[in-house]
Amino acid sequence: MTKKRLLLAGMEDYFETWRRAADSTAAGLDLVPYVPGQAFPGFPYLLIWRPVPELFASLPDLRVIFCLGAGTERLIADPSIPARLPLVRMVEPGLTQCMVDYVLWRVLYHHRRMWELEEAQAQARWAQHLYPAAWERKVGILGLGTLGQACAEKLAEFEFQVRGWSRSPKSVAKVACFAGTETLGEFLAGLDILVCLLPLTPETKGILNADLFARLAPRAALVNAGRGGHLVDDDLLAALADGRMGSATLDVFHREPLPPDHPFWLHPRVFVTPHYASETHPPSALVEIARQIERFEQGATLEHVVDRQRGY
Ligand SMILES: NC(=O)c1ccc[n+]([C@@H]2O[C@H](COP(=O)([O-])OP(=O)(O)OC[C@H]3O[C@@H](n4cnc5c(N)ncnc54)[C@H](OP(=O)(O)O)[C@@H]3O)[C@@H](O)[C@H]2O)c1
Repeated sequence: MTKKRLLLAGMEDYFETWRRAADSTAAGLDLVPYVPGQAFPGFPYLLIWRPVPELFASLPDLRVIFCLGAGTERLIADPSIPARLPLVRMVEPGLTQCMVDYVLWRVLYHHRRMWELEEAQAQARWAQHLYPAAWERKVGILGLGTLGQACAEKLAEFEFQVRGWSRSPKSVAKVACFAGTETLGEFLAGLDILVCLLPLTPETKGILNADLFARLAPRAALVNAGRGGHLVDDDLLAALADGRMGSATLDVFHREPLPPDHPFWLHPRVFVTPHYASETHPPSALVEIARQIERFEQGATLEHVVDRQRGY
């Protein structure tokens, strides 16, 4: 079988990892690195993570753009990407599983108030404390899409009281589902732990702000694995200072890397991870891309195509 050629652009540091992954799977893809200034006629498929200047002028036969990640806001904002081409966001089992691991880890951390034990250990202090059972904790997920839904299901398996919020109505076993802006207040009311897995759009920018924190349970925890633009940093710092919020795990930031002088780094109740919550797993992602190419070539509709008007 002839291998399908897939051009990789803007991923120079990772090209060899991807090539090895392609060689180790039966995806049947031949990966080719983009070289600036060179033309690539006869390439219908592109895998890209961030905008690359001058790229599209060199790809006269391009038909589908695959985004390496689930969040596509940078590509949507790039005016050089031809509007006629479908932009497919990444949905693949490796990315989903890593996010489930991360969210479960961080929810358990906040549930058991691990930061108190870390603080006590630093002082060689034996600090037993009481904590509720998982089924007494209310955990909410903003965004019940591919990642949010998988996390909600896992947390429900661990017996947390789980709620989820999305734009359109959903039905997920053992999860109380809320849809639309008008239900946001009800969804948030009294949550002990809030996880953000929204895409960054004009509607969701700054959603994690003082008004939202005021609706959660006192000393609630925030886990932001969506995008830095969702959070109003100063509102979180103020809410942590006045005890409205108890603790936070932040994986994504307005500026990445997070500047060394940012107060989040040394805050005793903020746990920082370096945009590390989840990542695309090349072998399973290539199998998924090959499956989508197969569908496309057979005339079926591509899945997970981004709606650029909607912003995700
Ligand atoms: N930190 C990391 O390592 C990492 C890794 C991967 C992804 N992410 C982030 O996770 C995000 C989610 O990924 P995904 O694959 O789960 O995306 P997705 O499947 O598109 O899900 C997005 C969810 O957000 C909901 N939503 C969007 N706008 C909304 C609004 N205005 N009001 C209410 N709900 C809204 C959608 O509602 P509908 O279902 O009704 O459309 C959907 O449930 C990505 O966009 C990215 O920002 C972070």
